[in-house]
Amino acid sequence: ISFGTFYSDDGHVDINQMYEGKAEITSDVDARISQLILKQVTMRESRRIKCRVQIPGDDMGQTSATTLLVVLVAPSAPVCRIQGTAEYGYNLSLTCASDEGSPVPTYQWQSYDVRNVLRSFPPKTTEKDGVLSLFNVSSDTSGYYICTATNKIRSATCNLTLAV
Ligand SMILES: *[C@@H]1O[C@H](CO)[C@@H](O)[C@H](O)[C@H]1NC(C)=O
Ligand SMILES: *[C@@H]1O[C@H](CO)[C@@H](O)[C@H](O)[C@H]1NC(C)=O
Repeated sequence: ISFGTFYSDDGHVDINQMYEGKAEITSDVDARISQLILKQVTMRESRRIKCRVQIPGDDMGQTSATTLLVVLVAPSAPVCRIQGTAEYGYNLSLTCASDEGSPVPTYQWQSYDVRNVLRSFPPKTTEKDGVLSLFNVSSDTSGYYICTATNKIRSATCNLTLAV
């Protein structure tokens, strides 16, 4: 899709209807500069953006160039869930995922016991891509499990209560 076009002969600017009020093009032909201004960018604008110049009767030289726009989005509050049966002797997975986030967030779990004291995970626990796998759970496994989703903008957490 095109954001819009600047016509140097009469200074007219056409902005794509989808970007009306969101995109502006300001150009100075003498200074050989054209600026695309994007307001309130979203993930939709996270893409390669190309600028193309047309001179009637002249297609020599470099007529276009591209740049990469990376829109950063803070992680949304992660959703944490228990998968499996929270009963003595079972294996459980705790999952953690943010719907939004750019770059894609990384996830980290922490565990607090029922008295809210930070502790290490029980033996054989594994953690990968936001999934914490608990092996052979017991009442000792009960407590609070905090998942933190982090990207370069910010962190967000969820707090899951596990009662075995
Ligand atoms: C599971 O944990 C209990 C103690 O809570 C232990 O007696 C049992 O051997 C464990 N089972 C396995 C398969 O590790
Ligand atoms: C998690 O939730 C429990 C129960 O609401 C609370 O006591 C605890 O302080 C919370 N932990 C964190 C790190 O937010």
